[in-house]
Amino acid sequence: MPYERTVIITGGTVNLGYYTALEIAKTHPEYLVIISSRSDKENAAEAINKALGQTNTIFIPLDLSSVQKVRAYAEDYIAKKYPPIQALVQNAALQFPGSLVKTADGIEATFAISHIGHALLFHLLCPYLAPKARVVVLSSGTHDPDQITGGMPKPNYISAEDLAHPTPASAKNPGRQRYTESKLANILWTYALDKRLKQRVPDRGITVTAYDPGLMPGSGLAREAGWFPRFLWIHIMPRIIPLLKIVISPNIRTPNQAGVILARLAIGQDMEGVSGRYYEGPKEIKSSKDSYDEAKQDDLWNWTVNYLAKGDEEKERFEQLK
Ligand SMILES: NC(=O)c1ccc[n+]([C@@H]2O[C@H](COP(=O)([O-])OP(=O)(O)OC[C@H]3O[C@@H](n4cnc5c(N)ncnc54)[C@H](OP(=O)(O)O)[C@@H]3O)[C@@H](O)[C@H]2O)c1
Repeated sequence: MPYERTVIITGGTVNLGYYTALEIAKTHPEYLVIISSRSDKENAAEAINKALGQTNTIFIPLDLSSVQKVRAYAEDYIAKKYPPIQALVQNAALQFPGSLVKTADGIEATFAISHIGHALLFHLLCPYLAPKARVVVLSSGTHDPDQITGGMPKPNYISAEDLAHPTPASAKNPGRQRYTESKLANILWTYALDKRLKQRVPDRGITVTAYDPGLMPGSGLAREAGWFPRFLWIHIMPRIIPLLKIVISPNIRTPNQAGVILARLAIGQDMEGVSGRYYEGPKEIKSSKDSYDEAKQDDLWNWTVNYLAKGDEEKERFEQLK
């Protein structure tokens, strides 16, 4: 069947990404749904197709921690001439709660996966976005020190360069701080991109939204944590979500519930034209004070384009969003 549009969901193989893919594939059998992470150990695409009696979900491997692998992914995508992209859901992320981890490219790993790999993917695929395409960027309430963040350290955005290549002083920060900083970077980039889309290519109608799915007990985000917190996270907390919602915060949901909301942000008709906003679950709220700091947004945008573009010609293309 020739598909009308493509939807790409990074990290779409498990948890939030998986349920988002399932919802979109179900409601839009005319879309090709591509789920992409490093591995598909549980044959997620096959499971979605089987559950729906359809064939519109496929898995294509992607490693966001490597600039060269993201480029290879985009080249393959372009060569296969898939339909225009209706939604790019930038969902994959990892936490490294221990000491500093660097990618093969020499970049701090949390920032590399959550921000740099996704930004490159966006820039390379930008020409293939459909009119009115949507980009949805996963963030987290933990980016905001004024929210209930379960004891997560406050982000301290100094510069994109400092996040990418921590100095001896910032390298000593806890790994969970690097996570909250990467999630703040996700929103800074969302607002930076929104501003440039409106200024440079208003006719394309492309929108970008940031999303906090809320705490999702049982999801893979605690995969690097110690055995006891992991045990609580995987085996106890998912069973007591209604209680946790009362005792801790209403912003707690299952990956399935959060996935249905994410699917709405990516393709729901009522979200058409909405851009440069931050959603906590189904409702729009203000993000942190720091996230509205335009100097920080510009620092992140400029650093990212300069780091990723191979030369002046590509830099110009990345900037012009054509
Ligand atoms: N879980 C929560 O409570 C929570 C709360 C707020 C926000 N969030 C945000 O929601 C999003 C999804 O969270 P989740 O808990 O569903 O995550 P998860 O269960 O840990 O799944 C992460 C996904 O990302 C993929 N991934 C990891 N490293 C990758 C890489 N280098 N390249 C490509 N894909 C990679 C993983 O597959 P592979 O390992 O096979 O690559 C997996 O599919 C994240 O952005 C997270 O920050 C989560």
